[in-house]
Amino acid sequence: MTINHIIESQQFTLPKLKELFERTEQMKKIVARGGTMDYSNKIMANLFYKPSTRTSFSFASAMLRLGGKVLSTEHASEFSSEIQGEMIEDTIRIIGNYCDAIVLRHIEEGGAKRAAAVSEVPIINAGDGSGGQHPTQALLDLYTIYNECKTLDGLSVAFIGALDNGRTVRSLAYLLAKYDRIKLYFIAPEEMQIKPDILEYLDKRNINYELSLSSKGILSKVDVVYQTRIDKERLKKKNVNFENYNIDTKVLQTMKYDAIIMHPLPRSVEISSEVDNDPRAAYFRQTKNGLYVRMALLTMLFDEN
Ligand code: CP
Repeated sequence: MTINHIIESQQFTLPKLKELFERTEQMKKIVARGGTMDYSNKIMANLFYKPSTRTSFSFASAMLRLGGKVLSTEHASEFSSEIQGEMIEDTIRIIGNYCDAIVLRHIEEGGAKRAAAVSEVPIINAGDGSGGQHPTQALLDLYTIYNECKTLDGLSVAFIGALDNGRTVRSLAYLLAKYDRIKLYFIAPEEMQIKPDILEYLDKRNINYELSLSSKGILSKVDVVYQTRIDKERLKKKNVNFENYNIDTKVLQTMKYDAIIMHPLPRSVEISSEVDNDPRAAYFRQTKNGLYVRMALLTMLFDEN
C-alpha cells in the first residue's frame, strides 16, 4: 500500500503503522547524530490558515533534520492570496510547483481533501476545521502510547474534554479501533460528547466503549488518560462542574501507578502544572515524538512518490 496524501488516520493499515514505527525508531537515531542530508533535494511547504506551534515547528524541524528545505506562511489567511479571494484549489496548484510536499492546516472541515483532489504533490492534513481530523497528531499519539505502554492491544483509554470538536480524539479513535481488546471511555458534558459518526465506526468494529458525564470512577482503571481542552467558562455558564473534567494532584492519586497522561496541547487549566513533574505526565514526551514521527512520515512520502 502506497500513501500519496495523508488526509485521515483510518487510511493507515496495521502493516503501514508498523512500518511507520520502525522508521520512527530510525529517525531517533538520525536526530541523535545530528540529522542527515539524505533528503537535501526536497522542499516542504508549511501552509497554515490557523495558528500552530507544535505541528508547524515540528514539521519544519523534521524537514530540516532530513536535510531538506522549508517554505512557509504561518498566517495564510492574511499572508497568502486567500485575502484576495483565491480558492484553496488554486493556491495548492501554485504552491505545488515550488515544493515536494505541502503541510496544510485549513479552516474548513474537508479542506485537506479538497487540496488533495487537485494536488500534484503529497498533501499532509495538519488539521482541518474544528471537527475534522488531525491524522499526524494521532499517529504521534499512537506511537507515544506504544512507546510508553509497550503494547497497543488490551489497553483502556479515557478521552476527556470538549470531544465534539476534538479532531485529535476523532483521529486517534479511528487508529485505536484497529487493535485488539481496546476499551474507550469518552468523558464530556452531554452537549460536548464525541459525535455519532465515530460511535458508528466503533460499533461496526465491535469496539467496547462507554460515554460518561464524569471522570470519577473511570480514571482509576485506565492505562491512558487523553486530556483535551475544555472551556471552564463555558462549563460555568451551563452549571457543569469543572472538577469532573480536569487533572490535578488529587486526581493523580486515584490513577494507576503505570498509567500515562497525554494531551495534544496547547493546554489551558485542564491539567494543573503541579502534575507536570509526575512521571505519568507524558505530554511533553509526546511533543518530542512529534518530531520523529513527522520525519518518518516525510521519508515515507518521499520514498514512495
Ligand atoms: N497539537 C497541535 O496540533 O498543536 P498546534 O496547534 O500547536 O500545532
